[in-house]
Amino acid sequence: MKIAVFSTKPYDRSYLDAANETIGHELAYFEARLDKDTVLLAQGFPCVCVFVNDVVDAHVLLELKAGGTSLIALRSAGFNHVDLKAARQLGISVVRVPAYSPHAVAEHTVALLMALNRKTHRAYNRVREGNFSLDGLLGFDLYGLTVGIVGTGQIGQAAARIFNGFGCQLLGYDLYPNEACREMGMEYTELDDLFRRADIITLHAPLTPETYHLIDSDSIGLMKRGVTILNTSRGALIDAQAVLAGLKTGKISHLGLDVYEEEGDLFFEDLSNQIIQDDVFARLLTMPNVLITGHQGFFTGKALENIARTTLENVKEFEETGSSANLVSSEKVQG
Ligand code: NAI
Repeated sequence: MKIAVFSTKPYDRSYLDAANETIGHELAYFEARLDKDTVLLAQGFPCVCVFVNDVVDAHVLLELKAGGTSLIALRSAGFNHVDLKAARQLGISVVRVPAYSPHAVAEHTVALLMALNRKTHRAYNRVREGNFSLDGLLGFDLYGLTVGIVGTGQIGQAAARIFNGFGCQLLGYDLYPNEACREMGMEYTELDDLFRRADIITLHAPLTPETYHLIDSDSIGLMKRGVTILNTSRGALIDAQAVLAGLKTGKISHLGLDVYEEEGDLFFEDLSNQIIQDDVFARLLTMPNVLITGHQGFFTGKALENIARTTLENVKEFEETGSSANLVSSEKVQG
């Protein structure tokens, strides 16, 4: 099938090209993000392939439909950036990559925590300048601490396994508790109870109307003083203003983010010669106890290989059968 592939970096192209050797689609790569200004590039392509910060709202979908597109192939698990209701009304199908490496994201979450805890990012710079002082580098033992995992699907479960290995107590909150997590000793509890009891809170739920700003001033109010918050799911699970306030008072002792609500204007680009306009984000960057990465949780060779292969196979299956096992089903449409 002819596929317009948006938001492609050289690494995407090399993995997609390798996977396509045996599949044989006609791939046209665009570096641009898909949005209302770039949608014309997709004219005449029956399939459009997008990543997490492409804009796939009702307006863009309408334009895509007019240009002959009937399939959106997501190179991601999350589909919160697609207006599924509009897609369904227009008869555009959406396929995704439900699992490419939950371990990649879980391991990155723990990498953020470990760096924040033992201040590896600060120690690295200090030692390179010949400063071997330990002042300010005091960490904590993870063993015995309580980790609250919100969303215990594939990534949450992989994270639980790692924290279990550290000897942490596991608390979980999910609409559908996971037996494998229970077998590791996870105690499922109400969200407020998790907020009250956890030393470390890590978010692995999708962005939905229910999870939007799950971490806000009210929930922070319930948390232990000195709580650590990690978010590698979607930025809008966190109200960044509220978290900033919590960091200033010391209520939140550490914050590790791989995602940010307004990341669409920032992440995946080199903006080092520009002035960041988002003052909340810029303030977060000044804090020694905040570690932010630019949505790289997924970024391992294995995950890129799986994303490329599954994406192209989804399109092939759809081309041959008119459906796909990885179709984003209409019951996932919110509202
Ligand atoms: P999954 O679908 O396996 O698990 C999500 C879990 O969240 C499910 O168990 C579901 O029941 C639960 N959930 C849904 N609504 C909830 C709510 N209101 N409250 C509590 N739990 C709720 O998804 P997976 O693969 O574990 O991914 C989780 C999220 O991680 C994705 O939705 C995506 O946003 C994010 N992600 C981030 C990546 C990164 O590079 N940083 C890469 C891949 C995914």
